[in-house]
Amino acid sequence: MSILMIANWKATPDSLKVAIKNISLISKISSPGVSKIICAPFVFVPLVKQRSLIMGAQDVSVFSEGAHTGEVTAKMLFSLGVKYVILGHSERRKMGEDREIIKEKISRALSAGLAPVVCVGEKERDSDGEFFGFLREELHSLFKGVPKKNLSKIVIAYEPIWAISTENKGAIDPHILRETLVFIRKIMHDVVGNKEASKIKIIYGGSVDHRNAKEIIKEGGAEGFLVGKASQTPALFEKLLKSIR
Ligand code: PGA
Repeated sequence: MSILMIANWKATPDSLKVAIKNISLISKISSPGVSKIICAPFVFVPLVKQRSLIMGAQDVSVFSEGAHTGEVTAKMLFSLGVKYVILGHSERRKMGEDREIIKEKISRALSAGLAPVVCVGEKERDSDGEFFGFLREELHSLFKGVPKKNLSKIVIAYEPIWAISTENKGAIDPHILRETLVFIRKIMHDVVGNKEASKIKIIYGGSVDHRNAKEIIKEGGAEGFLVGKASQTPALFEKLLKSIR
């Protein structure tokens, strides 16, 4: 089973020239056993069409089509060759996206044939374990009612908000990650049933780099990564990919 390496470029790079250069460099990195999914900003998405790379996007419109100026729909992305789309990222939630909107976007993505990479994660880890309750609620409200046939397409990105590199707190301890992923898996069993839940991939995001990636897989039990900062510079991304060989 290949490891999912989902690069979240966020709002970078800021020029076409650099995007072309970075994609060319990244496409040459050999990474056996790893699926390299590049979620570039919309305007650069078509450039990712390279044999060794998989196209991703960072968001999708809540609308299916029509009079919605500025929107990019799931069907448009699918027609370009996009396979994955990040949904519910905490940086989009900060701009006002709520669970209802995210749920709607999951459904748009799935009906167009895209695999949603759905971000869930607590703001902070309180010592009373209240974040477990938060995670349970998130998973129930985002995934209840998703048609069974679509569940195997879903990727859950457990991304605790406090662990994102901009917070400067570093990645999660791999042993704590393991406990949390077991918890997520158990909740998903309750939400969608055992057989279906086992088909859903669960990856980790938050300050992933070449120093911690191997442990996140080995000790933490993640099936892949959602990577921001360490994916935005080809040299750092190469180091990260080599560290998990
Ligand atoms: P980071 O970002 O790897 O820079 O922590 C991850 C993300 O926000 O998806």
